[in-house]
Amino acid sequence: MQSFQLLSQFPLQVVYGAGTAQKIEEILVHSDKKILIITDNFLRKTAMIDSLSKSLSNDPAIYSEIAAEPTSKEVEKAVQFCREGNFNLVVGVGGGSVMDTAKIVAALGKSQTKVNQVYGNGKLKNREIGLALIPTTAGTGSESTPNSLIFDSITGNKEAIIGQQLIPDWVILDPMLTMELPPKVSAATGLDALCHCIESFFSVNANPVSEAYSYEGLKLLGANLGKVANKPDLEVRGNMLVGSFFGGLALTIAGTTAVHALSYPLGKRGVPHGVANGMLLPKVLQYYSPYIEKKLDQVYHLFSTADQTINNSRELLDLIARYVAEFPISRTLREVKIPASEIPQLAKEAIRNERLIKNNPGPVAAEDAEAIYRMIE
Ligand SMILES: [Fe+2]
Repeated sequence: MQSFQLLSQFPLQVVYGAGTAQKIEEILVHSDKKILIITDNFLRKTAMIDSLSKSLSNDPAIYSEIAAEPTSKEVEKAVQFCREGNFNLVVGVGGGSVMDTAKIVAALGKSQTKVNQVYGNGKLKNREIGLALIPTTAGTGSESTPNSLIFDSITGNKEAIIGQQLIPDWVILDPMLTMELPPKVSAATGLDALCHCIESFFSVNANPVSEAYSYEGLKLLGANLGKVANKPDLEVRGNMLVGSFFGGLALTIAGTTAVHALSYPLGKRGVPHGVANGMLLPKVLQYYSPYIEKKLDQVYHLFSTADQTINNSRELLDLIARYVAEFPISRTLREVKIPASEIPQLAKEAIRNERLIKNNPGPVAAEDAEAIYRMIE
């Protein structure tokens, strides 16, 4: 019989709805707080950040030097900015990179601890700074996980910082903020969310609670993913946002698997996270289908819509492969300028990620990783 234990790992307050970001002043209890908004340089120039900032009465400061895939050195700079300004409420507004950075800034902004001293699980002390996260993409689910993933500036490796302290106090899910996303970003981040839900569903660590989150996430993503790269639709965007949030909750419990493990070496070489996952997902599902077929049999029907009926897990694999083929994203290593000669090195790096490999239902040895990379050569 399976046994499991659950930690309370849910943000204190989650608010969902179109236009909720404009109510940030009412949502955050911050009368005497000094606020730091963390975002990226692209968003900073948009009306979104201007309007959010004006909605807050305490005249917040804005820090926006966040790269698409932040390094420990860049995160350290953001932490230092927070220390110097003596802020006590951090509001992260952006995609996964921004939210992952904001989480570390809030966790370390009142201490002298260096970012590289807290790599791993359980190294963080109590967080003394309030943390609100407002995702502007429907993908990473960072707003609902205790994880922050950054590249170490020296080794180039993706490092995970994991701790309860990284669970935010407030999450605001406002689909209006995702309406302007270009189709490419919507597709890539949507595929990342799909990976979180599907990988956590067949992870060997799945339990009835994580499965409930995965299932509900798959229900929302399955019905909407096919429309995400089309003309923006508020209902589709809203469903993707909540599905992505569920993906974060599911992976917090069950973890991701071979897709994410094989994706990180591509991320290290500059491939956006969602794109790398999208390239790998259909192939990993195909490669491990004998191990995951029974699990997929429980969810394939969630992908049926008014336009298409999915009758079995085989058809689900075909559908996901079709989405990846039709989305405006790269599909092969050649397209992202990674030569086939690098495949053995990619495989070596992928299997070092024991944190994720151990969740995979089938073995992930170097030869398995190589075989999968060859499928996207
Ligand atoms: Fe991911």
